[in-house]
Amino acid sequence: MDVRAMTKNELAEVIERNKEHPDPALISGAAAVRDKYYGRRIFVRGLIEFTNYCKNNCLYCGIRCANRRISRYRLTRAEILSCVQRGMELGLNTFVLQGGEDIYYSDDVLCDIVFSIKEYSPECAVTLSVGERSYESYKRLREAGADRYLLRHETADKVHYEKLHPSEMSFDNRLRCLYDLRSLGYQVGAGFMVGSPYQSSETLAEDLLFLKELEPHMVGIGPFISQTDTPFGDMPNGTLELTLTMLALVRLMLPETLLPATTALGTIDRKGREKGFDAGANVVMPNLSPSERRADYALYDNKLCTGAEAAESIEMLRGLIERAGYTMDMGRGDSLVKTFDS
Ligand code: 5AD
Repeated sequence: MDVRAMTKNELAEVIERNKEHPDPALISGAAAVRDKYYGRRIFVRGLIEFTNYCKNNCLYCGIRCANRRISRYRLTRAEILSCVQRGMELGLNTFVLQGGEDIYYSDDVLCDIVFSIKEYSPECAVTLSVGERSYESYKRLREAGADRYLLRHETADKVHYEKLHPSEMSFDNRLRCLYDLRSLGYQVGAGFMVGSPYQSSETLAEDLLFLKELEPHMVGIGPFISQTDTPFGDMPNGTLELTLTMLALVRLMLPETLLPATTALGTIDRKGREKGFDAGANVVMPNLSPSERRADYALYDNKLCTGAEAAESIEMLRGLIERAGYTMDMGRGDSLVKTFDS
C-alpha cells in the first residue's frame, strides 16, 4: 500500500476501513518503517507547561480564555530555568516550553528565557510551543536560540477549522505561521486531534495530504478528549483505534518524521503509549512542570500527570519503554527531515 501515492478519496477510504479495527498489517507496516529510519529508540523530551493563560477561546480546549473555572498560573524565568536544571540532572537534553497564548510573554521576555536556557546548556535543543505569532517574533525567537517549534494545524480543512475555533481565529494565519516557521529554519511540528467534533474521514485525509506537502519534522497526534468546562464538554472522545490508524498512516506518509505517543493517547488507554510505539510513534514527552501546577494545565479531563508521565519518574518511563521492546534515548533526537536554512 503506497500511502504517498493516494488521492484524497483513496485515503479517506483507508481511514474509513480502519476506523474501528486497525488492520494489523497497517500497524506493523508503519512500525517497520519507523524501525528502518529510526531504529527502536524512543526519544524523550522534557515538557514544561509554563503558562495556562490564553487569549484564545478554542472550543475544545480547557485553558480557553472564557473558562473561569481553572486557576491560572505563569512560571517565572527562574522557575522555568529550575525545571530545565532538574531535567538536565535527570539526563534530558531537549525541552519543550509549552503554554497558552499569553501576552505576558512578549518577545523580549521569551527571548530572554530562551537565551538563558541556551546559555545554561548550549547543547540542548529548545522547542517552543506558544501559538501564533508574527514572522518578526518567530525570527527573534529563532535568533535567541530556539531550535524547534510545535504548532498543531488542528485540521487542514478550513470549514472544519472554523467549527473548532471562534471567528477571531483564522485558518490562513495558522498555515502562514507554519510556513514562516519552516522558512526560518526551525524544526517544525504540526498535528491534529483525532476524533474532534465534526471531523470526518475526508477531513482526516486532508490532514494527511497537508502533512505530505508541509513535510514537518514532527507530527503531534492525540485523541480529542472532552473537557467539561468547554462548549464541547459533552462531545464524545476520539478513540484509541482511530488514533492508532492515523499514527500509522502518518508514519507511512512521512517515514522520517518524529511522531510522539502523546499524553492524550496515554490518557484514553492504559497502554496507549505502548500501542502508539507499535504503530510507528517514537517520542514521549514527560512532564517537568512543577507538580503543584500540573492539574491546572487541564486541556482536557483526566489528563495523566503522575507515574511514568512525570519526568521525576524517568526510571518508570524507562521501564515502560523497555518492557514494550524499545530503548530510551535522552539525546537531542533531531528529526531526519531536513531543515530549511535561512
Ligand atoms: N483534547 C485533546 N487535545 C487537546 N488539545 C487542546 N484541547 C484538547 C482536548 N480537549 C491539543 C490541541 C493543542 C495541543 C496543545 O493540545 O491540539 O494544539
